[in-house]
Amino acid sequence: MQNKIEQYTSEINSFQPADAAELETFRIRFLGTKGLIKDLFEEFKTVSSEEKRVMGKVLNEFKQLAEGKYQSLKESLTVESETTGTEADLTLPGEGFQSGSRHPLSLVRKEIIEIFKKLGFNVTEGPEIEDDWHNFSALNFPEEHPARDMQDTFFIKKGGEKGDIALRTHTSSVQVRMMENGKPPFRAIMPGRVYRNEAISARAHCFFHQVEGLYIDENVSFADLKQTLFYFVQELFGEGTKVRFRPSYFPFTEPSAEMDISCTICKGDGCQLCKYSGWVEILGCGMVDPNVLENCKIDSEKYTGYAFGMGIERITNLKYQIKDLRLFSENDVRFLQQFQSELI
Ligand code: PHE
Repeated sequence: MQNKIEQYTSEINSFQPADAAELETFRIRFLGTKGLIKDLFEEFKTVSSEEKRVMGKVLNEFKQLAEGKYQSLKESLTVESETTGTEADLTLPGEGFQSGSRHPLSLVRKEIIEIFKKLGFNVTEGPEIEDDWHNFSALNFPEEHPARDMQDTFFIKKGGEKGDIALRTHTSSVQVRMMENGKPPFRAIMPGRVYRNEAISARAHCFFHQVEGLYIDENVSFADLKQTLFYFVQELFGEGTKVRFRPSYFPFTEPSAEMDISCTICKGDGCQLCKYSGWVEILGCGMVDPNVLENCKIDSEKYTGYAFGMGIERITNLKYQIKDLRLFSENDVRFLQQFQSELI
């Protein structure tokens, strides 16, 4: 009996059917009602009780081996015939494929650009590696002025020394380039990546994205600035969103302000997001300082203008209630997939 089982075992292990018919022959030979396993169990009844103790286990294991082999061969043959060859079922759903989606920051940048385009703003871009003039001096940051520390700058060393080349800390540098290279009127927005030397946390990162805007013409007033930004907020966050302006300071604008909107979550009633104030800050703005216009060879007696700047991450956080800035750059598919439906 032991010998037979050993012989059958090697036969089963090497069995590889060419088609379903051969597998069926296998089944009948080993597992059928008149099959070899049935015979072995009959034979088992006749052996001595001592032998039974040993053979019982061997026999059961052999039965399991035959059944297992049959099941797995049956499954692989079914899968094959369903998906290939003449027996293929053409009504089965096709294999899905993963499609990419736009990054939330791209979605929001696009939305912001669309709104300003409707108001007649062009889109302008500039270099991320900037010189001191375009990032600071032309924008009325005096040499050694503490305002330069407001924006922790990554300087690029030249021959081991801190030169005047840096990663831009804001896209205001693009405003300078535009004013230097053209003639007023100017009406444009500048989207782009900016860099600041900050420790990475849920609320700060060493790079982020901005959209700044500039409008320069004759007789541009603070009222124009307010109305433009009010319209922008209604379009982006919905009708009825309130705005308020608080006095602030930037070297390149005078007067300067920060703009808050009524909290997108509690609508002003007070919640964790707005720290129970009902308001959240979204951007900085102001009237372009005449010194900046003069630095760019624009007659500040004739022309006035406004400028504003916002962080795309901040706006995206508010729109989608994202609480951790790091999510934007970690490329976690579970995060990115949530924007799948927003393919545009
Ligand atoms: N450049 C400012 C910043 O990065 C934002 C700003 C732009 C403020 C234009 C006022 C006017 O913080």
